[in-house]
Amino acid sequence: MPEGTATSRPVWIGTSWKMNKTLAEAREWTAGVLATLAERPELMSGIQPFVIPPLTALTTVRELLGENSPVLLGAQNAHWEDAGAWTGEVSVPQAADAGAQLIEIGHSERREHFGETVETTRLKVAATLRHDLTPLLCIGEPLEVHDAGGSAGFILDQVRGAVDGLPEEQLGRILLAYEPIWAIGEQGRPATPADLADPVAALQAEFGASVRAVLYGGSVNTDNAADLLAIPGIDGLFVGRTAWELDGFRRLLEIAAA
Ligand code: 13P
Repeated sequence: MPEGTATSRPVWIGTSWKMNKTLAEAREWTAGVLATLAERPELMSGIQPFVIPPLTALTTVRELLGENSPVLLGAQNAHWEDAGAWTGEVSVPQAADAGAQLIEIGHSERREHFGETVETTRLKVAATLRHDLTPLLCIGEPLEVHDAGGSAGFILDQVRGAVDGLPEEQLGRILLAYEPIWAIGEQGRPATPADLADPVAALQAEFGASVRAVLYGGSVNTDNAADLLAIPGIDGLFVGRTAWELDGFRRLLEIAAA
């Protein structure tokens, strides 16, 4: 399936639906996005859209997107083993079988509520690469670390731990999503370009030349998206709430295209 390449450096605009949407809602959103892209192909020019539904909707969304879709499809999590006695888990090959091309790894909600650690993110990144899928590695610091000025060191340690031992070629297939924990969700405060300058510069300095792209996520909306995309070193946006509504996602594509 075609994907944007590191050399073309597309602007990434994607959403995880987290634990939201029925199959009917998944169909409605996906059909709406496809109709928009068919009507307005300029919204795909230099832009790499992606969607990460809950596992229940993966095959449904894949069927609607088709095999050579301009919209990449991902899973919100996958286990590091290929198969076995891991009740409640889904493996990378199973996610791929259901149509996933990306695997989201280490979102702060999984680190906080489901015991994700730097070591499990490392295992999942390796499993994803082993099966030729794209890891979307999420990193981000808690508010107290941000307030103490430790954001850059904290997120660099998260990335270093997750990519430990990877050869350069494999590093080049990884997408990083910087999502400060304090900026995510209903209680989140949107990060300002000033908040992001140091951590993004630090990510760029150590990993910018080797990873595929660095995305920002956390309370992205249609008012702040253009300013966030203008920050040097930000290659795209990873969006929750704003992009769950078709209009919001469409508007974000327009902003990225502008
Ligand atoms: P919100 O955009 O809803 O803050 O969520 C961001 C996020 O966690 C994307 O993974």
